[in-house]
Amino acid sequence: MSELKNDRYLRALLKQPVDCTPVWMMRQAGRYLPEYRATRGVAGDFMSLCKNAELASEVTLQPLKRFPLDAAILFSDILTIPDAMGLGLYFEAGEGPKFSHPITCKADVERIGVPDPEGELQYVMNAVRQIRHDLQGEVPLIGFSGSPWTLATYMVEGGSSKAFTKIKKMMYAEPQTLHLLLDKLADSVVEYLNAQIKAGAQAIMVFDTWGGVLTPRDYNEFSLRYMHKIVDGLIRENDGRRVPVTLFTKNGGMWLEQIAATGCDAIGLDWTIDIRDAKRRVGDKVALQGNMDPSVLYAQPERIREEVASILDGFGDTGTGHVFNLGHGIHLDVPPENAGVFVDAVHELSKPYHK
Ligand code: CP3
Repeated sequence: MSELKNDRYLRALLKQPVDCTPVWMMRQAGRYLPEYRATRGVAGDFMSLCKNAELASEVTLQPLKRFPLDAAILFSDILTIPDAMGLGLYFEAGEGPKFSHPITCKADVERIGVPDPEGELQYVMNAVRQIRHDLQGEVPLIGFSGSPWTLATYMVEGGSSKAFTKIKKMMYAEPQTLHLLLDKLADSVVEYLNAQIKAGAQAIMVFDTWGGVLTPRDYNEFSLRYMHKIVDGLIRENDGRRVPVTLFTKNGGMWLEQIAATGCDAIGLDWTIDIRDAKRRVGDKVALQGNMDPSVLYAQPERIREEVASILDGFGDTGTGHVFNLGHGIHLDVPPENAGVFVDAVHELSKPYHK
């Protein structure tokens, strides 16, 4: 078993005692950091950065050099799987991700296969191995993937969407086609995440960014069912330690009981739910991660500290079982110092809860 100097993040996910509440930030490596923009400039573009193990490791570690974060997250993207399936991922300035060959019909779905994680996706595993080497056991490394539903939204819409008309049309007019796609994606995600674990990822997070646009019935049938399949297929112990799995459905606060029933170790919360209510509902089953509105980081230091204090109070005096985080990714125009105020506030203000 390889030694970890700081394992607070893993311990909190397993509801074991910690000295203070661990914290990391979604999208902690990214454009709000000038050093990230510089390294991306060296790589040329975002995907070239993901495909260069040394540079991907460098940007993964950048936020850890600035702030005493309790976890690192692999620098990559959820859209690596559809790209490896041949959809042709590209980024257009200011417009987000796009695919040159989106999924339009059943024949398109039948054509795609499950990518080989040590083949087309080997660059991701190389980044994991490089980051583990460079981290020197300081903090655990989180591996991740998108949920099948969230990946399918990008693949069918051809990029980002607001109304999700194309995928919802497929969902209601041709549900079997969508199920075939989601099934292939779930198999791909299981292989991809297990390869990340074998390469050195010590915890897993599944991002279901768009599950919250579904009705409760459709959420169960088209999103949660496939995340459940993933939880069932993952390696849960590696290198002598449990590999905790966190499921994050943005806008999924209504469905916490069902999410907890998948057998995941933790649920990621966005800011639209009071963590006090979330804990009352599922806190005996799973750990909770969250849930400060990332926009609070625009505030003055005192206001940031006040919000951290309020969330810590909401989670309450059992202390453990909470990983502090933002309810979604950090905004790209947040002053980096404010992220520092946030991270320090979590460590300092949480100590009294862990006596
Ligand atoms: O630090 C980290 O959290 C790790 C890296 C990470 C990225 N994307 C890097 C990235 C992670 C975990 C993701 C996940 C991701 N990617 C999600 C799920 C989480 C969420 O935010 O809801 C989604 C939906 C994507 C798809 C995606 N990739 C989008 C919507 C964008 C933004 C496009 C834009 O121009 O703003 C990306 C690109 C992307 N992924 C960037 C980064 C740092 C920006 C690329 C750049 O440098 O220009």
